[in-house]
Amino acid sequence: MLNPSDKQNGTGEFVSTPFFENIISRTLHYLRAGFPVHFVGPTGVGKSSLALYIAKQLKRKVTVIRGHHELSNKDLLGQYSGVRKKEIIDNYIHTVFKKEQEIKPVWIDGQLIEAVKNGHVVIYDEFSRSLPEANNIFLSLLEEKVLPLYGNGKNSFIKCHPDFLIIFTSNPDEYAGTFHTQDALLDRLITIHLDSCDRETEIEILNQKTGLKKHEAEEVVRLVTNLRSYGNGFCPSLRATIMIAAVAKKSNIEITPTDIQYQALCMDVLIRPMTQILPKQPPVKIRELILKEILRREEKK
Ligand SMILES: Nc1ncnc2c1ncn2[C@@H]1O[C@H](COP(=O)(O)OP(=O)(O)OP(=O)(O)O)[C@@H](O)[C@H]1O
Ligand SMILES: [Mg+2]
Repeated sequence: MLNPSDKQNGTGEFVSTPFFENIISRTLHYLRAGFPVHFVGPTGVGKSSLALYIAKQLKRKVTVIRGHHELSNKDLLGQYSGVRKKEIIDNYIHTVFKKEQEIKPVWIDGQLIEAVKNGHVVIYDEFSRSLPEANNIFLSLLEEKVLPLYGNGKNSFIKCHPDFLIIFTSNPDEYAGTFHTQDALLDRLITIHLDSCDRETEIEILNQKTGLKKHEAEEVVRLVTNLRSYGNGFCPSLRATIMIAAVAKKSNIEITPTDIQYQALCMDVLIRPMTQILPKQPPVKIRELILKEILRREEKK
């Protein structure tokens, strides 16, 4: 159940429809058989939300790791950080003064250690934003089921808990800020390509997350779906429809094509993604196009 504030601000729970249920059930089959799953797809199709939702279904502790270009073995495995100082002063016999000092470096475990030891569900979100070298650690973890421990001076390893599961998410290689993933890692994963959800799902998400009425949600989805057809079919993303729906609901803006406030809201949310898919078009043309699509049904009448 959503609480009222979730509905108002457009956050809140995952909405599961037949579209997502199909992916969830396949993913659970693969994970339960011991294979890592990888969701790949354009921004905003729901990869991270889906991974979190599936992880919660498994009713185990969840560890989320977020990929970024500075992530290293130190973050995943651990590192020395600071020192612990122990001092013993012995002055029991007042003419004898003895002082012993011990300084030891302190080892802090990385994010993967507890997860591997205790069998958490790990979500490695946006893993291709980390350097491929940082992801090498997963090769032995996924194949030999051991986590090699470098850097603590012992060169040991941790055996992977049998319940350990991992879900990866990533944007396709061509996205800015991502690195090409080594084939050996991809070869160990079952990759599911996520596309934009279907119309019914998008309407349901708007309805449940923002409290917008079904026919209003339909209108927002109609507009954004039409605009997607000018590009690759993914942009503007689900985030854009949620933004329009959440703001309109919160500010009591009528979802009516001729409403000036509604038009302004759609412009503000949609000009940026439309410029992304039509980079050669000047802003004035983009505005005209969005307005044409907002009013499309009116024109037909
Ligand atoms: N099934 C769903 N139910 C409710 N909300 C959803 C659902 N799927 C996605 N969303 C919402 O859509 C938005 C985008 O989803 P999410 O962040 O999971 O996308 P993503 O594919 O991980 O994007 P990115 O590649 O940019 O990280 C979020 O606001 C999320 O809450
Ligand atoms: Mg994400």
